[in-house]
Amino acid sequence: MSVPLSTLTSKTYARGLAKTISRDRADPTNHLASQIGEGTETTHYSIVDRFGNAVATTTTLNDLYGSGVYVSGAGFFLNDEMDDFTSKPGTPNMFGLIQGAANAIAPGKRMLSAMSPTIVLDPKGTLLLVTGARGGPRIISATSQIILNVIDHRMSLADAMSAPRIHHQSLPDSIQLETGGFEPSVIARLRAMGHFVYEQRGVASAASIMRVKGGYEGMDDPRARGAAVGF
Ligand code: DON
Repeated sequence: MSVPLSTLTSKTYARGLAKTISRDRADPTNHLASQIGEGTETTHYSIVDRFGNAVATTTTLNDLYGSGVYVSGAGFFLNDEMDDFTSKPGTPNMFGLIQGAANAIAPGKRMLSAMSPTIVLDPKGTLLLVTGARGGPRIISATSQIILNVIDHRMSLADAMSAPRIHHQSLPDSIQLETGGFEPSVIARLRAMGHFVYEQRGVASAASIMRVKGGYEGMDDPRARGAAVGF
């Protein structure tokens, strides 16, 4: 599929989209003119060396033990990434994603993926942040919110990683708010606007490194059991 990248990343397109979003009413996903579909087991790691070279890697079996097929002698399982394709339009995949024909299985195509290993440079081109996450479609929400927290909200890495997250994946048409992270009045207001809101912890698990004065800070997600180490 040809992806109109320069349109999708342009300010004009963003402004046009912003105009379609009502500030006081929920737009049911099914009513949106174009339904953009997006895509358990995955690992993300972020690495920086002393020269500022950075690596962000997300690798996945997709589901727990992938396809369940183990490659004898080689020591690994085969994934079941085919579930990230639209195998049957209108039918949810294992992450509840309902997708369209553009993501249908065809020779030579790659399935849509939410995996977003990310390296952020500052305006001078110097490394600022290395991040990414595991968690199916929630990867996109977590990764983008960490970046926004650091750049727009000027948070420390610890705050940016710990801050309560929000997730919406178009369909099912609902908003996940991480438990305990949002004022009851905000939740009530969203419901009054017509959003279906539920509270549940666990919008993905990220692993990030940020440049700070004199070096780097690393942090694994408080929602996960990984760690940050330095050598
Ligand atoms: O590429 C994707 O979007 C999915 N296969 C990722 C799966 C995933 O993150 C599962 N992990 N927790």
